[in-house]
Amino acid sequence: MHVIYPGSFDPLTFGHLSIIERASTAFQKITVFVALNPNKKGWLSVDERLHILRESLKSYKNVKIDTGEGLLVEHVKRLGGDIILKGVRSVYDLQQEQMMAEANYEIGSEIETLVFLSRFQFQGISSSLVRQIFALGGEIDAFVPKGVSQFLKSKK
Ligand code: COA
Repeated sequence: MHVIYPGSFDPLTFGHLSIIERASTAFQKITVFVALNPNKKGWLSVDERLHILRESLKSYKNVKIDTGEGLLVEHVKRLGGDIILKGVRSVYDLQQEQMMAEANYEIGSEIETLVFLSRFQFQGISSSLVRQIFALGGEIDAFVPKGVSQFLKSKK
């Protein structure tokens, strides 16, 4: 089973990492897919997000990284993926995911979406929270892997 785990990863957090780690033991192959929205200027550049992912995930031998614009389902097909994986932290996330899963199923020739429920300790983490705390000079080590905080601090 080849699982595609899409997101913005702007930046990668412990929440994302937990989902990737769990998926890497449950499935044969995982592709972490950085989905690009040309209308949305990211906080980190695509290259920076990819660099962080490569560095943070290099010990997971069955995890690959990819990126692209356009419809996710087209990339799932291009990559030979079997299923889309999402992480869900709350009822709010679930509602969002339900809409996206339905759309992807309709436009993607019945590509299924699987959700992993976030572990309790990661339910309050989001990339926007990390961006805000970092911008205000706060400590982000509780939210992101060490390599990510080092990278962000080195940019300052
Ligand atoms: N733990 C911690 N945080 C998590 C998380 C987890 N398990 N899962 C999601 N998040 C957070 C992210 O950090 C992010 O936080 P932020 O809003 O504070 O930045 C937020 O949830 C949204 O996640 P994001 O990574 O942006 O992805 P998403 O789950 O909203 O999905 C795409 C968005 C990119 C996958 C989706 O828009 C897509 O498929 N785009 C391609 C275009 C397309 O095909 N559109 C039609 C699809 S319906």
